[in-house]
Amino acid sequence: MNTKTTVISEAELRRQAEIAQYIKEFWEKQGKTPVAFVDTYGCQQNEADSEQIRGILETCGYGFTDTAEGADLVVINTCAIREHAAQRVFGNVGALVHTKRRHEGQKIFICGCMMGKPEISERMKNSYRHVDGIFSPHHLWELPEHLYRVLIRHRKVYAVADSAGVIAEGLPVVRTNRLKAWVSIMYGCNNFCSYCIVPYVRGRERSRRPEDVLEECRSLIAQGYKDLTLLGQNVNSYGKDLGLGVDFADLLEQVAQLDGEFTVRFMTSHPKDASRKLFDVMAANDKIARQFHLPFQSGNDRILKAMNRHYDSAQYRALIDYGRSVMPEIVFTSDVIVGFPGETEAEFEDTLRLVEDVRYDALFTFIYSPRPGTPAAELPDPTPKEEKSARFERLLALQNRISEEKHKEYIGRTLRVLIDGREDDCLTARTDGGRLVRLQTADETRIGQFAQARITDATTWSLIGELAE
Ligand code: 5AD
Ligand code: SF4
Repeated sequence: MNTKTTVISEAELRRQAEIAQYIKEFWEKQGKTPVAFVDTYGCQQNEADSEQIRGILETCGYGFTDTAEGADLVVINTCAIREHAAQRVFGNVGALVHTKRRHEGQKIFICGCMMGKPEISERMKNSYRHVDGIFSPHHLWELPEHLYRVLIRHRKVYAVADSAGVIAEGLPVVRTNRLKAWVSIMYGCNNFCSYCIVPYVRGRERSRRPEDVLEECRSLIAQGYKDLTLLGQNVNSYGKDLGLGVDFADLLEQVAQLDGEFTVRFMTSHPKDASRKLFDVMAANDKIARQFHLPFQSGNDRILKAMNRHYDSAQYRALIDYGRSVMPEIVFTSDVIVGFPGETEAEFEDTLRLVEDVRYDALFTFIYSPRPGTPAAELPDPTPKEEKSARFERLLALQNRISEEKHKEYIGRTLRVLIDGREDDCLTARTDGGRLVRLQTADETRIGQFAQARITDATTWSLIGELAE
């Protein structure tokens, strides 16, 4: 495995930009505005990558459509985290044979995490002859060149060479939302949790320089973005590779001190690196959302060890307690895996107990999915599928009860919200913790503004409120 991060030079980025310009002129000469369909699977990091893909495609002259039918270019940005997501991708890529037949000249690219696994990208290359190009996350920045090869040289592209990962600054971006923006602060992961494929497909941890992150945030705020999410697989290890003495809490504080009216949040945090300093910085800065996504994965210490997580449930609980002691209003959310190989009924009950004690606002629950090449996939796994599903349902029922109770607790409170749209005769808004609030007003001029909302009622999925000014 290659272990050295490559920072893409300005000269190389300029060369890609020149190729993009060439492609744009190629289309202009034909008197045509080509359209691209970019389909995204998986997490926020993939969403952010797709925004860069759209940004690059725009510089190549492309407009956008939301279906593969009739698109001149289809880009499928894949996710490898669980078997189910991977299966869906294979199914959908298979179906593109027909769309391609109906639209002469359609080109198809497959990228994203699945293409970071050589076994999978080779299967894609060998079994799906209608695919024109394949590239892994490390080769996204070269998209103009990939497109040039396919479109103009009529060749196929297979860019999956192993790498510890790259940092390419200043790639163009087309953002999907005009109020909320992702800001990647680092890429990759060094943790090698025993069940997880991410470190194999996204390379080693590498941080962007603080001044580059701050500059991007400054520019987003100036453009009117109100809700920034700092993104990384494990934001808490930000900066360790830079050696500048700036850790994540420092970076977050610097972002929160930028001028303008905005909220900043972050994900994802690994409990082993989440520091009390980070909670203190949050408590001291109003612009940081009172929300913390802190995946615990399992409530049992033997399982946590087998997962290679480097914390135990007592340490985890202590972090939550500390967070609540400095910010009573903080919203915690988490990820949890049910049915890790060898998990017993008693071990699963430790997970239920943790969920019951912490009372998360929301929980993202997953049934363990073996990923070939990870250590956990080699472990004996005697628990039947039905038993795992039954555990999953029990966990879900518990969390649904807690979510509902928590929803009711909001009634009577006044919260800061960001008004983000209109639905029928209501305005829709989000709390700091990401809850949907339907506001009983139709004053569209308020969209894009922060407001105080008094919560008057709650349904299972949303809160009802009124403006409290
Ligand atoms: N099986 C099930 N869930 C997984 N996750 C990561 N790898 C797996 C896997 N092999 C979950 C973890 C992680 C979230 C993004 O996906 O809970 O936090
Ligand atoms: Fe996967 Fe663990 Fe890294 Fe998260 S911290 S991406 S679960 S290896």
